[in-house]
Amino acid sequence: MSDNGEGGGCGPCSSICCRFIITSGFAALFLWLALRTSQPTCSIQDLYVPILKKTDRSIGNRNNNSIFFDLKLDNGMKEKGVYYDNISLTFFYDPNTSYPIANYTVPGFHQGHGKKAHWKSVVEAHGQSWEAALKNVSNGNVSVFRVGLSTKVRFKIIFWHTKRHNLVVGAGVVVNDSGKIVKKKGVKLKSGSPERSCHLRLLLFSGLLVVLL
Ligand SMILES: *[C@@H]1O[C@H](CO)[C@@H](O)[C@H](O)[C@H]1NC(C)=O
Ligand SMILES: *[C@@H]1O[C@H](CO)[C@@H](O)[C@H](O)[C@H]1NC(C)=O
Ligand SMILES: *[C@@H]1O[C@H](CO)[C@@H](O)[C@H](O)[C@H]1NC(C)=O
Ligand SMILES: *[C@@H]1O[C@H](CO)[C@@H](O)[C@H](O)[C@H]1NC(C)=O
Ligand SMILES: *[C@@H]1O[C@H](CO)[C@@H](O)[C@H](O)[C@H]1NC(C)=O
Repeated sequence: MSDNGEGGGCGPCSSICCRFIITSGFAALFLWLALRTSQPTCSIQDLYVPILKKTDRSIGNRNNNSIFFDLKLDNGMKEKGVYYDNISLTFFYDPNTSYPIANYTVPGFHQGHGKKAHWKSVVEAHGQSWEAALKNVSNGNVSVFRVGLSTKVRFKIIFWHTKRHNLVVGAGVVVNDSGKIVKKKGVKLKSGSPERSCHLRLLLFSGLLVVLL
């Protein structure tokens, strides 16, 4: 009864088997495309440190510990939303990356697909002796502020949410004696370690294909 005479073997000429393999292959490909996610792009679009502004040597400005910043978060994915947990920003004065001079928290939020967000605010630096920085810029050199960002993100795929993924990025932002960021187009925050999850998914996908074929 189980023998239908068609020879259920997976020989190269078995059309049912071929169709199964092709359908499964496409299903795997579509699933992979549908589940593929990419981290949002984070950048510091603007940074302004008034105390470093050479043309303002007033007493008031010499005691100004403000650091103005403009953080941009860009969800480049066309059909997936991003849920950010609270985002911690940490500011360092290079090369001292063991002692943060300021912290800031951007409250978590949801970002729709293809959306960009700017967060502009100001932090007050603590425990920073500006001597070295002032000497630096007055000699015509630049000062480097290291900005670190860390949060967890979930992705919204159609109607379900993925688990949380760590998003830890940072970059050095160069400021000159105008107190302003030198790179006018902004500085992209990058992850210190290479992106592993993408490679892992690719490996999984290739494995799946190998098993199917
Ligand atoms: C520092 O300078 C900026 C720009 O001049 C000003 O808006 C800010 O209020 C100053 N901060 C303090 C604490 O004086
Ligand atoms: C997020 O930050 C806000 C303050 O900005 C705080 O009240 C809240 O508890 C934080 N949430 C988490 C989950 O840490
Ligand atoms: C970093 O700054 C802190 C506080 O000013 C100081 O105690 C520490 O020695 C500094 N570290 C380096 C490597 O400069
Ligand atoms: C920033 O946060 C870290 C860790 O919570 C803390 O040790 C440090 O004192 C904070 N620095 C400032 C300037 O608030
Ligand atoms: C400092 O940077 C600003 C902004 O990029 C630029 O307009 C200015 O010319 C720079 N100043 C010097 C002395 O390089």
